[in-house]
Amino acid sequence: MRQIPDAASLREARKALPGRVALVPTMGNLHQGHLTLVRRAREVADNVVVSIFVNPLQFDRQEDLDAYPRTLDKDAALLEKEGVDLVFNPPVDDIYPESMQTHTRVEVPGLSDIFCGASRPGHFAGVATIVCKLFNMVQPDCAVFGKKDFQQLLIVRHMVEDLAMPVEIIGVDTVREADGLAMSSRNNYLDEAQRARAPALYAALQHTAAALRAGRRDFTALEAEATDLIAAGGLEPDYLGIRRAADLGMPDPDERSLVILGAAYLGLARLIDNLEVEL
Ligand code: PAJ
Repeated sequence: MRQIPDAASLREARKALPGRVALVPTMGNLHQGHLTLVRRAREVADNVVVSIFVNPLQFDRQEDLDAYPRTLDKDAALLEKEGVDLVFNPPVDDIYPESMQTHTRVEVPGLSDIFCGASRPGHFAGVATIVCKLFNMVQPDCAVFGKKDFQQLLIVRHMVEDLAMPVEIIGVDTVREADGLAMSSRNNYLDEAQRARAPALYAALQHTAAALRAGRRDFTALEAEATDLIAAGGLEPDYLGIRRAADLGMPDPDERSLVILGAAYLGLARLIDNLEVEL
């Protein structure tokens, strides 16, 4: 495994890779969720490139950016064991030269303005911009993303389609702790008591999925019930929505492919999760 610290060396190292290349973009502080993406990348490509870059453009609060855990040595050891070929961990200056700071952005309007985008204005433009830039730098044949960030995955898919980027996007199911909590670097912010309450978000999604499978289609009432469940579990609900899985549009009662998306605040953490429901 080679660790590549800057864009110029990346270009050289990338050229030397034979066959199909998969990229797994991350912000580091890796857990089993990330490693599952890496394993999928291994299966579908001859070479795996993992990027580790805490992207300032997608943080709306400076404190959140500063507090984001940076654990490069530990991450590199984990990736070495997974047989990763290249780890790209550039400094901020390398990715955002002054010329770019106030200019170029990739925007996916509509999808970026709801749910997590409404709570965190500018967040998804930051995500789309860095993912586009990483695609241009690494030139992967495919890239692997987690369904844990369902809205992010859809935005990346739309960007790739709209801008004709020659990259196949692969989505991987959410990896969870034994009690259902979706793995996330932000779970580290929870103290013991908060950690015990955290599965209430997933439980509310499961409750809603069961109700949909049982035939209920009163979406607004179901959303309100799930929001109450989250609050009763000791979390502060941010949003809870039942939407079309394909584009997060409002579903008709006869829609077969739905997704339930939820987010809630718990202590210093903002937890997000979702559950796809095929009827
Ligand atoms: P990060 O939060 O580090 O996540 C990197 C990738 O891991 C994303 O595709 C995310 O969906 C996936 N992932 C995280 N937790 C997961 C879990 N429990 N199960 C399955 N997949 C999981 O998402 C980002 O970084 C950034 O926005 C990025 C795409 C790297 C752009 O900066």
